[in-house]
Amino acid sequence: MDGNGRWARARGKARHAGHRAGVKAVRATVEAAAEKGVGYLTLFAFSSENWARPADEVSSLMSLFVEALRREVAELHRNNVKLRFVGALDQLSGGLQKKIAEAESKTAGNSGLFLNVAVAFGGRWDIVNAARSLASRAAAGDIDIASIDDEAFASGLQLADIPDPDLLIRTGGEQRISNFMLWNLAYAELWFTDVLWPEFDKAEFDKALAYFAGKQRRYGHTGEQVEAAEC
Ligand code: IPE
Ligand code: MG
Repeated sequence: MDGNGRWARARGKARHAGHRAGVKAVRATVEAAAEKGVGYLTLFAFSSENWARPADEVSSLMSLFVEALRREVAELHRNNVKLRFVGALDQLSGGLQKKIAEAESKTAGNSGLFLNVAVAFGGRWDIVNAARSLASRAAAGDIDIASIDDEAFASGLQLADIPDPDLLIRTGGEQRISNFMLWNLAYAELWFTDVLWPEFDKAEFDKALAYFAGKQRRYGHTGEQVEAAEC
């Protein structure tokens, strides 16, 4: 979700105003995803690297997360959304961790859209954790090193229990992954748009879905193989 700062600057406002406007775009996107029957939506809200921003921006973002949880969770729950936060949550304030835990437990039994929010998250951090957990199991003699394969490795990732993303959407004009879900995005279709995140809405989401719908997923196979399997 990129472009909040530029959106604010273009209006002569402080960056924080852009982040606030970004919350509205989150609401619209979650609604759009639920309406379209998307099973899983993962929002990159704050990266491991975002801690390096000016302290006042970091603290206003953290307050905004608390406020957004306070305001939005009841509605998400009514809409059958299941919320989960992934990332180095122990780096967050106690107050925010508490709100997160409450939101997760309140919505744990829901069966609609599975909404993941990545906070203090980095793709490399996730991979390093997975490697560390396999290494400690191997050192303890619980697993055989030769048995480590893609599946065993992926089981140590934060989002191990959900399918890999089919589609990545990045707003704000940059065409890069910026340390998002590096492992899980191996076969994702990539949609980059110049639209700044506060202006992202249902119509923009539809454009991304239309792009995705036009893609043939080959996973290394030939187009002919895929067509034959579809018949
Ligand atoms: C994304 O918008 C929001 C977060 C990283 C929290 P930016 O704040 O990166 O917006 P730009 O890139 O400065 O416009
Ligand atoms: Mg940015």
